[in-house]
Amino acid sequence: VTSNAPIGIFDSGIGGLTVFSAIKKRLPNESLVYLGDTARVPYGTKSAETVVRYSRENAAFLEEKGVKAIVVACNTASAVALDDLRQRCRVPVLGVVEPGVRAALAASQAKRIGVIGTRATIASDAYGSMLCELHSDARVVSVACPLFVPLVEEGWLTGEIVEEITKRYCAEFEYARVDTLILGCTHYPLLKDAIAKVIGPNVTLVDSGEAAAVALKFLIDDEGIASTGTVADDRLFVTDVPGQFESVARRFLGGMMPTAKRVSLGS
Ligand code: DGL
Repeated sequence: VTSNAPIGIFDSGIGGLTVFSAIKKRLPNESLVYLGDTARVPYGTKSAETVVRYSRENAAFLEEKGVKAIVVACNTASAVALDDLRQRCRVPVLGVVEPGVRAALAASQAKRIGVIGTRATIASDAYGSMLCELHSDARVVSVACPLFVPLVEEGWLTGEIVEEITKRYCAEFEYARVDTLILGCTHYPLLKDAIAKVIGPNVTLVDSGEAAAVALKFLIDDEGIASTGTVADDRLFVTDVPGQFESVARRFLGGMMPTAKRVSLGS
């Protein structure tokens, strides 16, 4: 693996482009290979066993592309498959859970922390257990928000319905007096304004994808594998026909026009 090899990123679909953007901002000279498993999305409603199997195939695809490190942009895959991937892959594998946990602990005064994510992420308790492992007095309230992913994919980011749903999901955080909330899903950064409006200005929102981009920069520097090139060559792959991906992707990338190539994985 050479330092000018690309960094691989995978997600269950489009959402990981929030992580792709965060990485692009912090590491503009790095070439990125993004794989969105659009044929099998969503992961957040599936069993851990299935998500592990899909994640192995995604990581193997990226390794075949000669990547020097893999970022698991998908929170669900990070929550249930990271240890497995680390054992299998020849290159360093970074998830979004640990960076999100560390950023939340750094941001929180009271160590009363909320976590939102898909059903699978919340059921795994990956965030909750790591928060308590790294800070034994942490109080954690975790809530699955399964309606958020489809809302974001529909482009419903504000308005009455979004506000009503957000209020329901976030009610517990007020009672629990959390001062920090981890956005533990690739899609949730797009709902940041709606969530902030409901939860109020005293709660810090932590974007696990942003935190992962910061952690990736450290990892690249520590391993001495930073790119020496100045022009990044990014490539996007999807497992379903690219049409829908490209139109929704534009929303996630703030207008940038990606071209994605279709690939087949597994069975
Ligand atoms: N990428 C997933 C996550 O961050 C959300 C979409 C899905 O359920 O696959 O958990």
